[in-house]
Amino acid sequence: MDSKFKHLSLDNEFLEKTIFSNSLDDTKKLGIKLGKNIQKEDIILLAGDLGAGKTELVRSIVEGSGSESFVRSPTFVLINNYEGPTKITHCDFYRMDENLDEEELGIEEYYEDSATLIEWPERVKNNLPEDCLIIKIFFTEIDNQREFKFYSTGNKSKALLEGIQ
Ligand SMILES: Nc1ncnc2c1ncn2[C@@H]1O[C@H](COP(=O)(O)OP(=O)(O)O)[C@@H](O)[C@H]1O
Ligand SMILES: [Mg+2]
Repeated sequence: MDSKFKHLSLDNEFLEKTIFSNSLDDTKKLGIKLGKNIQKEDIILLAGDLGAGKTELVRSIVEGSGSESFVRSPTFVLINNYEGPTKITHCDFYRMDENLDEEELGIEEYYEDSATLIEWPERVKNNLPEDCLIIKIFFTEIDNQREFKFYSTGNKSKALLEGIQ
């Protein structure tokens, strides 16, 4: 299965957990648990094909964090900010212009100032922080089922996983 996955893969990623979600509802529960744990300076990278469930997961993480903000799937906006008990920055770089300089985005300032969730992180591969949680979402043969693989790249991202079994 991994061989078909064409998305982000970092040298220092370490597979911590694999969880199967059998429905959107399962994914929501997973996101809510993660959201309860999320803190400023946490970074989550979401990798997976279109329709895998990245935005749905972001939606439930934001809900779990206690924010009442509405999460949109950004079409032209690359970055959305959600206010709440933990400030969350949601980036979706799917449509990012290939020529846009990663550094021009100024995402580093969000890394320090909020929890940052990034869809299509492969687009900013050279501008990612050291310690981030990577979530890879795979379609399976079964309708509405997704395989979630969680990778840590340091102690902070590992700690973020403690709330989920
Ligand atoms: N187990 C599941 N987990 C998440 N989404 C699911 C699941 N099963 C079906 N879906 C559907 O897949 C779609 C995921 O969409 P979205 O989160 O926008 O994908 P992405 O952001 O990865 O492109 C939604 O329409 C959702 O209802
Ligand atoms: Mg999306």
